[in-house]
Amino acid sequence: MTLTSSQKQKSIRAGEIAKEVKKWIKPQIKKGMTLLEIAEKIEDKIRELKGKPAFPTNLSINEIAAHYTPSYSDETKANGLLKVDFGIHVDGWIADTAFSVDLENSEENKKLIEASKEALKNAIKEVGKKSSLGEIGRVIQETIESKKFSPIINLTGHQMEEYELHGEQTILNIENSRQEILEEGLYAIEPFATTGSGKIYEGKQSGIYILINGKNVRSPEARKVLDFIGDEYQTLPFCSRWIVKKFGTKSLFALKQLEDNGNLHQYPQLVEASHAKVSQAENTILVDGGVIVTTE
Ligand code: CO
Repeated sequence: MTLTSSQKQKSIRAGEIAKEVKKWIKPQIKKGMTLLEIAEKIEDKIRELKGKPAFPTNLSINEIAAHYTPSYSDETKANGLLKVDFGIHVDGWIADTAFSVDLENSEENKKLIEASKEALKNAIKEVGKKSSLGEIGRVIQETIESKKFSPIINLTGHQMEEYELHGEQTILNIENSRQEILEEGLYAIEPFATTGSGKIYEGKQSGIYILINGKNVRSPEARKVLDFIGDEYQTLPFCSRWIVKKFGTKSLFALKQLEDNGNLHQYPQLVEASHAKVSQAENTILVDGGVIVTTE
């Protein structure tokens, strides 16, 4: 999809905020800090820079590959191999980026982090060479396997459109037969590397939701929460922590009602099948004749 110049500018601005937040938060992340504190720092900084969080900050430890965001009362402390995945949007135009940190001074963690980082770098080079999606996947897989790790085969990069985090196109992290190249548009590329089998399964519920249906709900309290979600997040993911912040803990029941009524979908945590450690690296690119990495 071709973006207008204003849409491109918004995408680039979102990326600039992402860069600034990343540079600012990285040196502050220490073992033993609560995940809640890290998430709130990131999200507050995004707002301070006049962006909005495009989705709840994901802070996933070790075998949890993605979709862990702290709840409002979460006491989990940062440790192990931590993936920090956050997003910014400017009027619905998104920058999605992730990095991994080793909080236990482990050689293996460091190598695993290096593997996904290098796979990301090589994948973006392939996009620049107008390689096919199959070739991009092959390069990601090869880079990670050359370091004796495995890519996660059922997590993919994704296209992003206005207020849409997961657009039509996906970018696989393994070799595949897709011949097409990435057309003009906005994409997140996100290789995951693991010491395990390379598959994830759906674990516990995450408290991360997305609006799927605006149909009526009987409870006035739930209706109020639904209206807020529609106005504030539209079709972007949000979390129970944000709703509690706005409406108090009584809104947790409203969320349950909205989920039961079919208004919301709740995402499960994504856990590596052999419970092995996972690293992730992610940047957003704007493909527009050339390739602009908006988040680095
Ligand atoms: Co992403």
